[in-house]
Amino acid sequence: MRHPAARLLPAIILSMAATSLPCEAQTVRAPSQPVGARATAGRAVPAAPDLAAGEATFKAICSVCHTPLPPPKLAPPMVMIGRHYREAFATEAEGRAALVRFISAPDTGRMTLPRHAYDRFGAMPRLALSEKQVRDVAAYVWSLGAPADSGRAR
Ligand code: HEC
Repeated sequence: MRHPAARLLPAIILSMAATSLPCEAQTVRAPSQPVGARATAGRAVPAAPDLAAGEATFKAICSVCHTPLPPPKLAPPMVMIGRHYREAFATEAEGRAALVRFISAPDTGRMTLPRHAYDRFGAMPRLALSEKQVRDVAAYVWSLGAPADSGRAR
């Protein structure tokens, strides 16, 4: 169920949640607790993701095919992917859950990118990643899609 506030403030919530994820646990690494994001995020993904670990996975594994920005190598640039997910999903929780689904089991039948990404680059192979790696890298990809001035709503 989506909190009604999510309809009014998605951009604010997303940009805040990209750096400070709400979680009941005390393991949140972000510097401050977000004010409005608690009701909309954190349900679909159980533990708070580690963005630094996600970046490390991106550099070690994903960057073989994905550049952060154009020009692309063997796959669509990751910042573009992050933006597509932010356009396609109303809340961070939904977007990250979709990223987790795709990254853990890439499936051209449920792509968020337009079909021409597949026509150009082909399919993404299934990678040997732990659940934690998938969760962290999904959060990292989501964070890459943040607007440039990510302190503000678009
Ligand atoms: C061997 C090359 C390769 C590697 C390594 C790779 N990808 Fe991909 N990825 C692709 C290709 C090709 C596509 C475009 C086809 C598609 O979207 O199905 C893609 C698309 C994606 C998409 C968009 C899916 C959608 O909804 O359309 C995401 C998200 C993604 N990759 C994440 C990752 C992450 C995270 C990693 C590292 C853990 C990674 N990829 C590693 C080749 C790769």
